Amino acid sequence: MIERSRAPDLRGFERIVFFTGAGVSRESGIPTYRGRGGIWERFDYREVACQRAFARDPEKVWDWHDERRAEALACEPNLAHRLIAEVQREMPATEVVTQNIDGLHQRGGAERVIELHGSLWRVRCDREGIVKEDFSHPFQPRRCKCGDWWRPDVVWFEDPLDHETIRRAWTAIENCDCLVSIGTSANVYPAAELPLVAMRVGAVTIEVNPEDTPLSGLYAHCLRGPATEMMRRLWPES
Ligand code: OAD
Repeated sequence: MIERSRAPDLRGFERIVFFTGAGVSRESGIPTYRGRGGIWERFDYREVACQRAFARDPEKVWDWHDERRAEALACEPNLAHRLIAEVQREMPATEVVTQNIDGLHQRGGAERVIELHGSLWRVRCDREGIVKEDFSHPFQPRRCKCGDWWRPDVVWFEDPLDHETIRRAWTAIENCDCLVSIGTSANVYPAAELPLVAMRVGAVTIEVNPEDTPLSGLYAHCLRGPATEMMRRLWPES
């Protein structure tokens, strides 16, 4: 029988996928979305994170995203981000699939990051079909040279996920032998169902979260604790 709270050593696998959510950045100081003090407890997404809000009041939506940029810039990647990057360096077939838009995996050294929900650090002009990276704060100018607004390249509520991004994530997970889900409440679809693909192909699945989620019962291992401590258990110093 598998002891579900035991952490297997990740060095025993070849194709690992880290599937992360807001909880992996919590110890860096970035709030999660749900739960006490969460972003959606303090803000109404209908005012700041959907296409209709942007059409109604782009300045307000940009002000809110500038606040998110400032929050992320004030934070540093934590040990979990850095250890994930270390796994990727030591085992190059490792993939990182994240729902986060904060860019902390990349700042922590991860090379390839599949960003399911876009990035705070990209903007796009839908009229011209341009996407560009931009790390400034506050983001200026807010209008493209064509006169239309630059829009944060983030998947807002009611937006579809980018087809190519979800295909890359799906392929990585379908081919993995171990999936480590860290810090996601497994509430937001379609992202939440991606770990089920790993279960279907017989990969070893590990959930890292201080709390139970609706999918906890399906994981082979559930590590109850913060991301940094649990990542250290999964990747002990060699
Ligand atoms: P949530 O805020 O829904 O969930 C965060 C999870 O992190 C919870 O299950 C917490 O228990 C867990 N957690 C808290 N502290 C932790 C720690 N130190 N270590 C590990 N886990 C910890 O965030 P997501 O699941 O990422 O979408 O949310 C999914 C999507 O909903 C986000 O990408 C965002 C949001 O609306 C968009 O903005 C499109």
